[in-house]
Amino acid sequence: MTPFHLHNKTILVTGASSGIGRQIAMSISNMGGCVVITGRNEDRLLDTFKNLKSVGHQYFVADLTNENDLQEMVKKIPMLDGIVHCAGIVKPYPIKFLSKEKIKETFSVNYEAQVELMAQITRQKKLNKQASIVFISSVSSAHPHKGGALYAGSKAALESFSKVIALEFYTSGIRSNCIAAAMVKTPMYDYSEKNASKETMDEHIKKYPLGLGEPDDVANAAVFLLADASKWITGSTITLDGGFLLGGI
Ligand SMILES: NC(=O)c1ccc[n+]([C@@H]2O[C@H](COP(=O)([O-])OP(=O)(O)OC[C@H]3O[C@@H](n4cnc5c(N)ncnc54)[C@H](OP(=O)(O)O)[C@@H]3O)[C@@H](O)[C@H]2O)c1
Repeated sequence: MTPFHLHNKTILVTGASSGIGRQIAMSISNMGGCVVITGRNEDRLLDTFKNLKSVGHQYFVADLTNENDLQEMVKKIPMLDGIVHCAGIVKPYPIKFLSKEKIKETFSVNYEAQVELMAQITRQKKLNKQASIVFISSVSSAHPHKGGALYAGSKAALESFSKVIALEFYTSGIRSNCIAAAMVKTPMYDYSEKNASKETMDEHIKKYPLGLGEPDDVANAAVFLLADASKWITGSTITLDGGFLLGGI
């Protein structure tokens, strides 16, 4: 059988009620995997759930910044062969407008929730040997943009965290990797589009030799990192940018 399949694997996907996380959940089910999906918005989470192939999937409505929600979910989830940490927000602010409150707003979802989730899942021994952890990061972790102090910082922190997981759990065959994506057409992209001028967006889009990304471009890479096909890859970050970082355009 191809090493790219996900049969007999149960994968938790956060942020599965929208955009990239939704597509990742659907792609995992298309590759034979079982998913446990989570998000805050029940209607949109159910939309994802209804689009999953085959049976046996589960969903949990949870705000990952809420300690009780997190604890309840971790208690109930089955043993996992993989986790895709996809939940995240983008809130751009110029530095002079930053405050403790705003730092918390971004870091609580984009970093603290992932750390807390990993801590609880490992404490409760919910990870099978050979499990694969995937974080959805951004090219802005290494190539930040103006106004991106919190978003870029939270993604850089996430990439470091992923490497620590790779080091702490390799003896159980557990791997951890990141996908650093440039702009992908999702509701998050729509939000960025609304907050920037048309000229700024047009200028930005021109810099992508292969155009903007689609959610399935990210989902295909996530499937690869979850599958045994990537069993020699850990502590890495895969860049998906349609050639944006080539910088020649
Ligand atoms: N789109 C891009 O251009 C792009 C590029 C690089 C990286 N990324 C990363 O990819 C990931 C997904 O982005 P997307 O574009 O798919 O965004 P999206 O469509 O806005 O989806 C964000 C997801 O995160 C969930 N979420 C947000 N806050 C949460 C909380 N407190 N608790 C639980 N879930 C929460 C949302 O749940 P609800 O629906 O319930 O609110 C939603 O499912 C993010 O980490 C983002 O940083 C995106």
